[in-house]
This record gives sequence, structure tokens and C-alpha cells, in this order.
Amino acid sequence: MTAVETEHKGWLGRSVKRKEDARFIVGRGNYIEDIKLPNMLHMAILRSPFAHAKINSIDTSRAMELPGVVVVVTGDVLAEHKLAWMPTLSGDTQAVLATDKVRMQGQEVACVIAEDPYVAHDALELIDVDYEPLPVVTTPQAALEDGAPVIRDDKEGQTDNRIYHWEAGDAEATEQAFAAADKVVRLVTHYPRCHPAPLECCGCVADVNPATGKATIYMTSQAPHAHRTVFALVAGLPEQNIQIISPDIGGGFGNKVPVYPGYVVATAASLLLGRPVKWIEDRTGNLISTGFARDFYMDGELALKEDGTMTGLRVKMLSDQGYAYADAQPSKFRAGLFHIVTGSYDIPAAHVVTDGAYTNKAPGGVAYRCSFRVTEASFFIERLVQTAAYELGVDPAELRRQNFIPPEKFPYTSATGFEYDSGNYEPALDQALQRVGYKVLREEQKRAREEGRLLGIGLASFTEVVGAGPSRHYDIIGIKMFDSAELRVHPTGKAILKLGVKSQGQGHETTFAQIVAEELGIPPEDIAVQEGDTDNTPYGLGTYASRSTPVAGAATAVAARKVRDKARKLAAHLLEASEDDLEWSGEGFAVKGAPDRAKTIQEIAFAAYTDHPEGMEAGLEATNYYDPPNMTFPFGTYAVVVEVDRGTGAWDVKKVVAVDDCGTRINPMIVEGQIMGGLTEGYGTAAMELITFDEDGNCIGSNFTDYLLPGSWETPAFELGETVTPSPHHPIGAKGVGESATVGSPAAYVNAVIDALAHAGVRNIDMPLTSDKVWSALNEVGLAE
Ligand code: CDP
Repeated sequence: MTAVETEHKGWLGRSVKRKEDARFIVGRGNYIEDIKLPNMLHMAILRSPFAHAKINSIDTSRAMELPGVVVVVTGDVLAEHKLAWMPTLSGDTQAVLATDKVRMQGQEVACVIAEDPYVAHDALELIDVDYEPLPVVTTPQAALEDGAPVIRDDKEGQTDNRIYHWEAGDAEATEQAFAAADKVVRLVTHYPRCHPAPLECCGCVADVNPATGKATIYMTSQAPHAHRTVFALVAGLPEQNIQIISPDIGGGFGNKVPVYPGYVVATAASLLLGRPVKWIEDRTGNLISTGFARDFYMDGELALKEDGTMTGLRVKMLSDQGYAYADAQPSKFRAGLFHIVTGSYDIPAAHVVTDGAYTNKAPGGVAYRCSFRVTEASFFIERLVQTAAYELGVDPAELRRQNFIPPEKFPYTSATGFEYDSGNYEPALDQALQRVGYKVLREEQKRAREEGRLLGIGLASFTEVVGAGPSRHYDIIGIKMFDSAELRVHPTGKAILKLGVKSQGQGHETTFAQIVAEELGIPPEDIAVQEGDTDNTPYGLGTYASRSTPVAGAATAVAARKVRDKARKLAAHLLEASEDDLEWSGEGFAVKGAPDRAKTIQEIAFAAYTDHPEGMEAGLEATNYYDPPNMTFPFGTYAVVVEVDRGTGAWDVKKVVAVDDCGTRINPMIVEGQIMGGLTEGYGTAAMELITFDEDGNCIGSNFTDYLLPGSWETPAFELGETVTPSPHHPIGAKGVGESATVGSPAAYVNAVIDALAHAGVRNIDMPLTSDKVWSALNEVGLAE
């Protein structure tokens, strides 16, 4: 018998080093490109140079003659197998390979399958396609004009380019609030299109065994289980014969949620040829054809009383979705969770009108470093509040404080229908102000202006909504958004935890082991965490939109508690005591008042296989499919100080303070890493990341020379603070932090920068805030040199 320590330190809140890094830093990660199967073929994709064109013919004969080419697949070949089109995760359809027309630049037109990847790429140049260019639609506004070319004329009954119209809130109450308002502030803005640009592009190795019919598909998937179901539905393959394996993934950021044509063609080719087929996407393919982010046009107004009290909000949003509605949005919420746009404020009436339109661009609108479309909402409300503070001539910090939802009002039902479970916004604001030295800075700003220097201090608060979600409201193509954990403790007290989610770099192998360690006292190094293999993990909806911790993290805690319940029974048997007389020490059970009569979890685990009482099943394991009762609502406030060069318009970030609240932090080091990632993304969008299109629909931003991502050199240093308001319904009080955001909010960072520039004299400019635009804005108000 081993004495159990009476004082247990606990595993939550410890910056345990990331277990997974051991293999990454010695180059032993296992990414798609590392997978090499015997007899494997290679696939390359021919993409359309036109944004909109009729396909008159495709001649593959010259390509077929190139030695090493096995087959060239076209849309017509796929159509024979009813595979030319596939469903999207938002219930629309998307071409696998184009048949009648191409509808975006970069669209997949044909695939070469060859013995060697270089031969496959060379053969692309030998495919002759006769295109007949059609008029191109590059903005959602143009798409909705009368007489605009109907992009999705393949869809029966589709007579225009509208995808959806969706509203939230109370139109009438909002009208009344505006009618009674003393002041109305309006903002028209655009959150431009950008791209998640993960370090690893997409890819797969499809291996359909001709003898057994089993399809093993290694792919870059953030949602392997959901993808398996889609494959079963698209290809008609029996689901038990499809195994999706997501090995290590080099970043996802929402970009690896949609199903892409490359996966489908490689699988179909493997099925037809009886050999494994590998497809590795190149950078241009990734940037021009896969899930982009943002591209919301927003026009809204805030109604206020004379004293600055907010009384109403109305927003019209128009989304540029590209040629297919293909991002995964919960089916009840056509514009994602954009209706969180009331943010941190107690606004009694709100009404949101959203429309989505087809354009001749790549589909997307993915949950990039945020929950579904929440970044766009955070961006909008905070810019509106900044504008209100400016127009009312009041301190932006005080206007926020005055209108924050007060702590006693939680749980709080927002005017657009969310029930915020918890929140306490002022401490985060106060901490940000205090850390940045707000009062002193405002004085310094005045002095600097007198000296001719342009210094700006910007603020932004945010409340986001993550952890999708309660299954009564949230589903993806009908599959409810629960998630799962299966925990098995082996005889020697070591454990294996299998999850329905899938890390793309977030450190799940460490943090989820910490949750088990906290609940069962088994140290994290003794717990193996497995994800991403659909044959060997329980069904789940995957990792995106900051849902892993709120949903699968909760499932893990609940499964561990079930294991502990059985461990109590086993301990009672071993200690010959009543279950009620036992207490949990953090590392095992002891008889109350007799700490020497104790059993560690390891001893109990051994007994589960060697000495369990009669009538009890052997083994020590549990499964939980967790359906969260509500979403979680992380929040925070950021402050940014910038100085602008009057001669060039260049702006320099002097200081960034980010105070985030994600409830209980499981691993503070990992959370801080996530926050810094989110802030860097915000910096990138503010300063340089932009994907635009010329009038012919050519994508400007198809490579890293044109599409600029910030590196460590230009990214400013961040000072991080925290407040802790646990989620009341989460088993361990954690809220999500996103795969580098939600806290670590890019929107809040962007807003704080824009606000800081505005206070330095640069008003009304849109992202990216390039120095030439800043200089022109300064010039207009006579501040440029
Ligand atoms: O869904 P995704 O993994 O992108 O996001 P998440 O669940 O919000 O968590 C990202 C990473 O931060 C995971 O490794 C989490 O376990 C960790 N985390 C944490 O340590 N404490 C929290 N309160 C929330 C997340």
C-alpha cells in the first residue's frame, strides 16, 4: 500500500512543455508529404486561367502520350461516375472538375496521374483546353445587380447570384430605438479578403485496396470524421470501408475544413486504378483556390442617447462567397455567428440583415482564427464604437465602460439571441489601460502633437462566441456539433485518450493529457493522446472555430470523471471500505481520516484487470459524447500605441497590450502562444495581407511575393495580461482560445491599430494600412510632410 499525498498541486494552469514538439524539432513529424506507399502514383491539377469561361473542349491526347502518364482525368470522365459535382459543407454544390464552365480563376479543370510528380506537372502543359471567356463578376454588389451574369446557372431554379438572405434580432424594436435616438453614428466598411495560408498546403494520399475495397485516405483534414461521412455520401462508398487519417498537420486555420476537389479526384483515381495516388497542392493552388477568409461588406448604425448610452444597433452585411457557398457554417446560421455583433455592450435593440452572393472567385469564408464569422462582427462593432467616441468627443475607454454589459446581468441575453454565460469586462479594460499607461500616454500624445509628432493610442474590446455547439442549434450539414473522448487506463496505470477533434498545431497532445491528469492524477507524460484516425477515434466534428477545448475538452473531463467513479468502486473493494468513506486526494482514494489507508490510481488500475470484485466488468475505461449546454464567450481589451512618420506614412507600433479572458487556462504557455498567433494575424491583416482581383478576375495575391505575411522581424512585441472568468457550465471552466485566436483576437488588434492611427490623425482608411494610404490620408488633413 502506498500513502497518497494529501496536498495535490493539480495539473491545470501549468505550463507543461509541449509533448508533441519532441518529434517536430528533430524533423520526425509525419506530414502528408512524408507518406510514401508502395506502387504510389502522383497527381497534378490543371487550373483555369480564366475567372469565368465556357469550356468548348478539352484535348488530353498530347498529355496522355507523355511517358509516365497513366491517365488524365477530366470532368466528363467524372460525370460518367456521377462525381463531377460534390456537396459542400454548407449544403451547396461545387464542381470537382469543371464540365460546362469554369467559374473562378484556379478552378480545377483536369488532373494528370503519373508515375512521377514531375511528369504529372509537365503533362499539365500538354492539355489543350478551348475556353470561351464570359463576363466576370468580381464584387457581390455587382453580382446582385439586375442583369448580372448568373454564375451558378448549373443549379436548377437559380436565377440570380443571391445565396442567402438571413436576419437576426428585432427589426421593429430597433426602428423604435433609432427613432428615439439623440445621436446616430454610421459606419460603412469592408473587412477585406485574406487567406489563412497555413505553412503546409493541402494534400492527400488515397489508397483504395482493390481486393478489400477499403479506402484509406491520408489527408490534411481538420475534421476527419465529418469528411469520412461526406466521402461516403459523395462516392457511395460504405462508411465502414473508409478510413480517414489526418497525420501531423502544418497549420489549418479553417483552411483545411472544406472538402477540396483534389481529395476527391485522387480517391476516385485510386479506386479506378487500384493504386495509391498522392496529391500535394502547391502554394499558388492553395492561395487561389482554397478557403479564403473574411470579405464582408458592412454598413451599420449605432443609436445613442445624449449621454452616450447605446440604445440600438442595425447592420446590413453583404458577403462575397465566391462561386460556391462552401465554408462550413452551422446550417441555422447562414452568415455564421455574425450576429454576435452587439459585442460587449448592453444594447437593448438590434437588427442584423445579411446577404451572401456568388462571385467569380474561390469559395471560402472559413473560420480563420476565430469562430464562424465572429472576427468580422468584432471588427465592426468596435470600429463603430470608436467612431461614436470620436463623434461624441468622449473618451473611448469611458464610452466602453459606460455601455459594457454589467457583471450582475449575466447570464445575459443579447438583442440578437445569444445567451452570454458569463463575463466581467471592466477588469480587462482597466488592466489594459493600466498596463499601457493610458492617462500618461494621453498627456504624452498632446505634447508629441505640439512637437509635430503623430502619436496615437488605440483601444478595442471584444466578446466572441466559441465552442460550437449545443446540438439543438448547431450542426454542419445536419451532423450535430457534439464532440467526443474515449479514455482507457491500462493495467500499469498508463492511459490512452482518443478524441474526435484534430490538432493542427494547437498542442492537444499536451493540454488534453493535462485535463486527464487533473481528473485522475495520472501524469501527462503517461497519457498518450490520439486524434485524426477515424478507425481508431470516436466520432467528432473536428477542430476549428475554437471548439476543441469547450467541447472535446469537456468530453475528456467527463470521461475521466466516469473512470474515477469506477476507480472509487475498485478502491472500496481493495480497501475493504464503503465508497462513501473514501475521499479523492488528487492521485488516488484514501479512507477519510486515515490517509495511510489509500490506493493510488495506478494501483487501482492494476486491480481493474487483476483483482476486480465479482460482478464488476473488468477494465477501466469510459467514453463521452459531450453536447455543450451553451457556447462560451471569451473576451478582452487591447491597447496599441503607434507613431506615424509624417514624411512617409510609415507607422511603427510602439506598444501592444492584450488582456484576454479565456476562463481557466489549462496550459498558460500554450494559451499565450495561441494569443500571439492571433495578434500576429491581426497585425498581418492591418499592415499587409490582402487578396484582390483585377476586373478580369485575376487573383492578385497568388504567391508570397504579392501576398505578404508578417515574419518575426516586423511583428511587434506583445505584452499579455489576463483576467479569469471561468465558463460556469464547462466542467473545468475553460473557454476556447482558437487555433491562434478568439482570445488573441485579430479583430481587436486590427481595431486598436486603426483607432491608434485615427488618434494620430489618420482617419477613414481601409485595410491594409499601407504607408502610401496613410500618407495620403495625412495629406488630406494637412498633416503630411
Ligand atoms: O479548437 P482549437 O484547438 O483551435 O482551440 P481551443 O480549444 O480553444 O484551444 C487551443 C489550445 O489552447 C489547445 O491546446 C487548448 O487545450 C489550449 N487551451 C488552454 O490551455 N486553456 C484554455 N482555457 C483554452 C485552450
